[in-house]
Amino acid sequence: MTLDAVNAGIREMCERKYPGRRPVFGEGKAGCTVMLIGEAPGGQEEAQGRPFVGKAGKNLDEFLAMADIPREDVYITNVVKIRPIRISKTGTISNRAPASAETGDFLPWLLEEIRAVDPSVVVTLGNTPLKALLGNGQTIGAVHGKIQSLEGRRLYPLYHPASVIYNRSLRDVYAADVRSLGEVLREWNVL
Ligand code: URA
Repeated sequence: MTLDAVNAGIREMCERKYPGRRPVFGEGKAGCTVMLIGEAPGGQEEAQGRPFVGKAGKNLDEFLAMADIPREDVYITNVVKIRPIRISKTGTISNRAPASAETGDFLPWLLEEIRAVDPSVVVTLGNTPLKALLGNGQTIGAVHGKIQSLEGRRLYPLYHPASVIYNRSLRDVYAADVRSLGEVLREWNVL
């Protein structure tokens, strides 16, 4: 399936199951050798129709700079393509983690998206993409920075860049994982 066909399928599924919600598609070209997968779009992403912009995008850019990976060389997407929201009694809208039914709706499309982009290395950011792709037995605390495999590709689990901001010790672990990702990508001639 081509990337255009994957995105058309996602659009059709969203119109049927999430009417009125604007999907945020992956960004980048088929053939990118590195694919980054986050959780779901937030408010900025929904407003701009692009993954990882705004605050989350700034964190991601810092991470890419740390590993010396040019953003143009990577394909960036999320497991869930619509913004999961909670609406308070007073009408305030906030982000929430995706529900497992939402992850389940989008997972078959994520797998098609991975096959269409055909990267050598998939980098998952946080628990949501890790568990969606490798199963619930995996936790980021146990497998971060350790190479896994997915349909014959290498999968490199990282903490979510947003989750490490307020956690000093996690930040150091994350920084070491990111540097080691940059090193292995060069060792494997992926970059
Ligand atoms: N923005 C995204 O696009 N994905 C995340 O996982 C977080 C923020």
